[in-house]
Amino acid sequence: MDKHRNEMECQIGFIQRLSYSIFPGMLRGGKDQRRYRRYLNTFFLHFRPRNVPERTLRFTLTWGLGGMAFVLVTLLIGTGLLLKFFYLPSPEKAYESVLYLQNTVLFGRLIRNIHHWSANLALVVVFLHFMRVFFTGAFHPPRQFNWIVGLGLFLFVLLSNFTGYLLPWDQLSFWAVTISVGMLEYIPFVGLWLRELIQGGTEVGPATLSNFYAIHTAVLPVLLIFFLLFHFWRVRRAGGVVVPRGPDEGMENQGETVPTIPNLLLRELTIALVLLAFILILSILFNAPLESKANPGLSLNPTKAPWYFMGIQELLLHFHPLFSLFVIPLCMGIGLVMLPYLNYPSDPAGIWMTSFKGRKMALTAVFFAVGATIGGVLLDEYVIRSPSWMSDVPAYLTTGLIPFMVILMLILGFYTKMKRFYTANRNEAVQTLFVLLLTAFVVLTVIGIWFRGPGMKLVWP
Ligand code: HEM
Ligand code: HEM
Repeated sequence: MDKHRNEMECQIGFIQRLSYSIFPGMLRGGKDQRRYRRYLNTFFLHFRPRNVPERTLRFTLTWGLGGMAFVLVTLLIGTGLLLKFFYLPSPEKAYESVLYLQNTVLFGRLIRNIHHWSANLALVVVFLHFMRVFFTGAFHPPRQFNWIVGLGLFLFVLLSNFTGYLLPWDQLSFWAVTISVGMLEYIPFVGLWLRELIQGGTEVGPATLSNFYAIHTAVLPVLLIFFLLFHFWRVRRAGGVVVPRGPDEGMENQGETVPTIPNLLLRELTIALVLLAFILILSILFNAPLESKANPGLSLNPTKAPWYFMGIQELLLHFHPLFSLFVIPLCMGIGLVMLPYLNYPSDPAGIWMTSFKGRKMALTAVFFAVGATIGGVLLDEYVIRSPSWMSDVPAYLTTGLIPFMVILMLILGFYTKMKRFYTANRNEAVQTLFVLLLTAFVVLTVIGIWFRGPGMKLVWP
């Protein structure tokens, strides 16, 4: 074999020798084009099984969201590396370097726009992927741990967005980061220390910018790549994605299987190309915002956190910071981590929203959450606000523990009432609770983004 190979290598030119050193098996014969394709296919099949159940190819199972998230992260790393050639991470030069990039560098503005829009879209797409995974029951065994890995990915995409936000060093980014980092102070015991660690001092300044820059362009990308590889490996180890089925259908019937290439490959390429075209058009039509240079002496009114933290900022307007910034997010985080490890009576993996009953209950939860959240915000804004007879009671009770316990009782009441009324099992009840909390959070975010004006007063947009 080696002798034959050496003989063949002597007879061929430099370029071919080079390409055979990359794809050694190519010397084994066959037409050049076919051989290239074979090697490309083998490469792709390292990440994918040779055959996949035909049903999993249905667009309405995954909506291509995981693939889109991957394309966006790749695009962000690509454009991020290009931005690094011109960006200067110091308060004196950062803003000017972004201006220079936008106005002087060929395609500089386009690259920045692509980075900006991909980053924002990544948050939306990852959030939707997270919902699709939840609603197809894809967090049940053997995918429990991949759910946890996914939560890590979500956190990294969020932190990448947040650390990137400061880099242009304009008024918007400076004040949004100042208010967001300030929120950390309310974490008990370690809050102040954490705030100063991240800021690199007592206030947002040069050390903060260089910390954020290092985290944004080195730490987080490495973590993202590592977690993504692990995520994909776990999808493969679980035998691919969940196979969709009807509420009354068992797991035995997995349907026909079809070759991954071209069936899955073509679908993934189509989604990737459509997404790239969309981002390109968006980036040509709409510029990434850039206000005037950061001025630590002149704050904005209203000073709003980045849009993805507006739910928490809205919560802060109604609850004591200890609860809005620590207790509530911590409870949510613990709930999400524990979710796949609860004891469930059945495995609904592949069934959209668990069952027909599950769908009805989820819809009820959406209506209830929208009504209760809007009602609660209005009530707190115009009616309850600091009644005089409570002026002697500490704030962590009046705006913290008491309203927190009241809302907790309401949520538990809703949970048990729904469970009893629909004679639901735990799968359906937990899903209803998830929908309730998620909808409330989305409503708070919407109120924060569009319905808060100067002085964070409620306004009609
Ligand atoms: C998931 C990955 C990433 C996300 C979500 C992300 C997000 C962001 C965001 C939101 C901005 C602010 C852009 C603006 O609106 O002005 C930004 C800026 C920036 N990012 Fe990233 N980024 C990611 C990866 C990277 C990587 C891998 C690098 C480099 C290795 C990078 C380098 C930069 C640079 C130099 C800037 C400053 C330039 C500017 O603000 O226009 N990013 N990033
Ligand atoms: C940067 C972020 C992410 C990327 C690029 C990504 C990518 C992917 C891809 C490509 C798949 C294969 C099928 C599909 O497209 O749905 C997948 C599946 C999966 N993802 Fe993600 N994901 C991310 C975040 C998340 C998050 C936030 C979660 C949940 C907390 C999650 C949990 C899962 C699970 C459990 C599966 C297996 C689903 C199944 O078997 O049906 N992922 N992910």
